Amino acid sequence: MKYPIAKGLFDILPYPLEEKWKHTDAWHFIESVIHKLCQDYGFLEIRTPVFEKTELFNRAVGEASDIVSKEMYTFLDKKGRSLSLRPEGTASVMRAFVEKNLQMHKKIHRLYYIAPMFRYERPQSGRYRQHHQFGVELIGAKGPYEDAEIIDMCLEYYRRLGLNDLTLLINSVGDATSRENYKKALKEYLFPFKEELSEDSKIRLEKNPLRILDSKDTKDQNILKNAPSISDYLSIEAKEDFQTLLELLDELNIFYKVEEKLVRGLDYYNKTVFEITSGSLGAQNAIGAGGRYDGLTKAFGGKDEPGIGFASGIERTLQTLLAQNIEIPIEQVSSVYFIPLEPDAKKVCLKLATFLRHKKIEAVIDFEMGKLKNALQKANKQNASYAVILGSNELKKQIVTCKDLEKQTQIEIPINDFVTTLTDF
Ligand code: HAM
Repeated sequence: MKYPIAKGLFDILPYPLEEKWKHTDAWHFIESVIHKLCQDYGFLEIRTPVFEKTELFNRAVGEASDIVSKEMYTFLDKKGRSLSLRPEGTASVMRAFVEKNLQMHKKIHRLYYIAPMFRYERPQSGRYRQHHQFGVELIGAKGPYEDAEIIDMCLEYYRRLGLNDLTLLINSVGDATSRENYKKALKEYLFPFKEELSEDSKIRLEKNPLRILDSKDTKDQNILKNAPSISDYLSIEAKEDFQTLLELLDELNIFYKVEEKLVRGLDYYNKTVFEITSGSLGAQNAIGAGGRYDGLTKAFGGKDEPGIGFASGIERTLQTLLAQNIEIPIEQVSSVYFIPLEPDAKKVCLKLATFLRHKKIEAVIDFEMGKLKNALQKANKQNASYAVILGSNELKKQIVTCKDLEKQTQIEIPINDFVTTLTDF
């Protein structure tokens, strides 16, 4: 009986067996770029649990949203409580923020996370049932200046990775009242076309008409051409903030495209929303996205705080990187590969390797006792810097043969001097 991995999931392996984006080295590389970026922008790491009470996501993301109504992994625990694997990170960060009363400590909080998210979607290239997000949340600041800061941070992340062919789409969805009024107007406009809409859009018309704006169906798109625009429903404050934001982006030389149909699929957004698409991905081309969610803390029973953030899919970012032929730098550390060729040599090798490891030098012992040639091949394959060989001859003379695998030179070292000699090598 075999137990294959569940649909829509993948392993990240330290071997070059599958596509390169599934290699551990690629993930380590991207994570190191993220940690440095966040340090440079003054963000601190937060880690929240993988599952939360279901009601948290119902309230934050919205019961009518696709994420909550169709995609959540929800289960009952042994006491019958409804829990869900997190489909996104913002709700959990804000739950922790309110629960731990973080606004008591300081006014502005800059938090980031690298975490797996779970969505029951139809798997396809770039879309998985467990995916990973790098996300940031800036809580406690309201103005378009912070919006510009966050958008720049997101783009700087991609810049540091060397990505190109990205497009920043941006829009303002106003406050909750503007959105409600717009929803009503959109529904009124679409109602006469009900029978012509795609099956999905027909259902959305009642439940969540804003999602129809995302429809890829050509008939739906034609109908939408003359639909009312959200910009006509914005409050004066939302309009002014958006205008200032666009000016700030110009100031920072950030190119953007105002996309009036961009409303995003999560209910907590208000005012600024944005999405970055990659020209190197297929249908699932959103590499990152975010927006403002003022007042979410209040909805969670805390003080009313503004907030803005973004999240970027790590799988899609790595896939873009590889599609654009960007080399993933792999950090090389010197390591020592021990080859005992006699049963008595095993113990000596174990002792020497342990000594090196305690000195923070990477050491591997090949206990297989196969042929020397094969063992050296394995050492080369693992990119070891040195091979330390201990056969009967060496044991007799109480030495080891130490081979520099790059220079292809070798020396004999007395076992007693081994550690000092190798660390100065
Ligand atoms: P989101 O747009 O739902 O936003 O997801 C963010 C990113 O996660 C997407 O742009 C995409 O790159 C990636 N992603 C989403 N679903 C999948 C999937 N099934 N497979 C692979 N990648 C996926 C949020 O989650 C918000 N919490 C972002 C945010 C943070 N807004 C404010 N703060």
